[in-house]
Amino acid sequence: MKIAIVTDIHHGPASHTKLAGWDALAVLDDFVAFATEQGADLILDLGDHISDTDLEQDRRVAAEVAACLAKFPGPRVHLLGNHDVEQLSIADNEAIFGQSMASRVVDLGGIRLIAWQPDVTMTRGTGFAPTGSHLDWLVAALEADERPAIIATHLPFSGNAQIGNHYFEHNAEFSRHPDHAEVRAAVERTGRAALWLSGHVHWTTIATVQGIVHVSLHSLSERFTTFPLPACAFALLDIADGTLTLDVRGNEPLFVRLPFRASSERRWLLPMGPFWPTEPTQPSA
Ligand SMILES: [Fe+2]
Repeated sequence: MKIAIVTDIHHGPASHTKLAGWDALAVLDDFVAFATEQGADLILDLGDHISDTDLEQDRRVAAEVAACLAKFPGPRVHLLGNHDVEQLSIADNEAIFGQSMASRVVDLGGIRLIAWQPDVTMTRGTGFAPTGSHLDWLVAALEADERPAIIATHLPFSGNAQIGNHYFEHNAEFSRHPDHAEVRAAVERTGRAALWLSGHVHWTTIATVQGIVHVSLHSLSERFTTFPLPACAFALLDIADGTLTLDVRGNEPLFVRLPFRASSERRWLLPMGPFWPTEPTQPSA
């Protein structure tokens, strides 16, 4: 099973983190050619298709992204990022991309891809909302089937530190949902997830937490880790015989091979308590 992944395309106007004259569509064409040549079974897009400005321009640039990705001859799974719903509605995006943007389960034979779409609206000052009833849906979806699952979201759920991240070192609350720890624990309790794919944070990270491999994939357009070049990142995930390989292309390439198995299939020792618990202080006489 091969999944070609792209995220944080951010097609639209220039910004200080984009190369002068940057054209995301040219690199997106390279991604589609790559996915096709590699024989990908599907394209997974993790959201933030655009850099939002206003309704009319957002409609235009989102449609350009959709048209470009539609050149891929196979199925596509799209998620929404915060910039996709800043001006546009979910219904606008569904019309542009020609598919539902609700959370859904994609049957991939021996495994399942769960495209999970909690509310990704980012509110100025406070950040993202808790996932609420979307979490109930996710847990039910995981419990409904024994096959190991890949969860795909726009925002990461690893709880990883954002130290060194251009956007999020000083804005960690905007890098994740506030209930990310509760979500992680609920998913871990099901024992069904093997891999969690996300975008949003514009760098590639890998962290295994309680037996689940969390991957955040770099942005197509970003250049804070590859300055002055854009990252031009996209990836091929190949899962076969209980092993995953992730081949990240672009100006910060990475190749990883790891076991692919539901988290319940291996024992993960729980984190220890403090090495030297603080003694309760005695009240002075
Ligand atoms: Fe984002």
